[in-house]
Amino acid sequence: MIRVLNWIDERFPVRQLWNEHLAHYYAPKNFNFWYYFGSLAILVFVIQIVTGIFLTMHYKPSSEHAFASVEYIMRDVPWGWLIRYMHAVGASAFFVIIYLHMFRALLYGSHREPRELVWLLGCIMYVLLMAEAFMGYLLPWGNMSYWGAQVIISLFTAIPWAGDALAEWLRGDFVVSDATLNRFFAFHVALIPLVLTGLVVIHILALHAVGSNNPDGIEIKKIKDEDGNPKDGIPFHPYYTVKDLFGAVVFLIVFLGVVFFIPELFGLFLEKDNFQPASILQTPSDIVPLWYFTPFYSILRAVTYPLFGIDAKFWGVVCMGLSIVLFFLLPWLDRSPVKSIRYRGWMYKTALTLFTISFIVLGYLGMKNPQHVDLFWFPNLVWAQFLFFIYFGFFLLMPLYTKWDKTKPEPERVTFK
Ligand code: HEM
Repeated sequence: MIRVLNWIDERFPVRQLWNEHLAHYYAPKNFNFWYYFGSLAILVFVIQIVTGIFLTMHYKPSSEHAFASVEYIMRDVPWGWLIRYMHAVGASAFFVIIYLHMFRALLYGSHREPRELVWLLGCIMYVLLMAEAFMGYLLPWGNMSYWGAQVIISLFTAIPWAGDALAEWLRGDFVVSDATLNRFFAFHVALIPLVLTGLVVIHILALHAVGSNNPDGIEIKKIKDEDGNPKDGIPFHPYYTVKDLFGAVVFLIVFLGVVFFIPELFGLFLEKDNFQPASILQTPSDIVPLWYFTPFYSILRAVTYPLFGIDAKFWGVVCMGLSIVLFFLLPWLDRSPVKSIRYRGWMYKTALTLFTISFIVLGYLGMKNPQHVDLFWFPNLVWAQFLFFIYFGFFLLMPLYTKWDKTKPEPERVTFK
């Protein structure tokens, strides 16, 4: 075995790679709960790829057969139900993990210098992940798949002059049809996963080039021992491989619990209307995207006023796009002298709390009819319009409140019990 390894090593530096990224990669010793989600994102990504490959073996990407082929997978293919439910629940699990992974960055300032590139790569992956989920959702050719795609693609028609042509080009037809299904299939199973795989590798290489952040938000590379290793670091392997393995086991218990017992999660992971085949003659009463898109859907619907003679739909699309683009700008909007929430003042703490509440409640409202009253006193639309300002305020006022905020001094060394 050793001889085989030596033979490979002389031709390709496996040992050097192993050492650089695991055995001799020094990570801060104070990682906590929030540091599970990077490795969990990799785990779910692998689950999606593997289950996706098996689904592709039995799925038929045509408007004629797609719905029936999914039913065939569920009823007749041995273990097909498990593979399909793992893939469908996996999509939602991916977003749960990614939202927590991004929230960790906001807690500890991981998006700040010198990790801006890690953050930007993450943001690109997030957008691609949304595209991947959106296109995957059309594939079962259920009624909500169909109408969801119809609504989202028709958003492009809001763009003045070029909109109609653009939407038609995207669909490959005047309505969502077989041509749309075929191209979404190609993007969903080939192009986007390929690009994502490359980006995940670059994301981690970029992180390892500058080193991981930690809950204290201080740079451990500044204080080194006589061997040149950070005094506050420990080798990733075996310390964090074991920690991440523990996280993976706990995650799999919860994940498989959902897959086995509540795969639809009361319509949150698989919607009721999607158990009916797509029909151009039967529009679902409420066309709603899956939960991970609903905060942005709420923002889109919150804009109801025309401006400069252009109708509200256009401005809704602009605001929705902006609500995602602003994430890319975070490293430059944040002017605080400290990174971690532990040493920030009340302003950032309040802003982050309000933003988190607005994101969750906008998500809830995005699943509801805008005219109904599901919270207190006011129709859902009014609440969404109110939260819209909190959402954007978090980003746009950030250069001010992070500068005014009274911060505490950072410690020299990481705090670790
Ligand atoms: C396919 C999706 C993703 C995968 C597989 C992934 C994987 C990872 C891994 C393994 C780490 C190192 C371990 C850790 O710090 O938890 C990491 C760190 C990081 N990721 Fe991601 N990530 C993904 C998406 C994202 C997204 C969407 C963002 C932000 C928009 C992001 C931002 C970051 C940042 C800032 C770090 C450095 C954290 C620190 O050192 O404190 N990642 N990622």
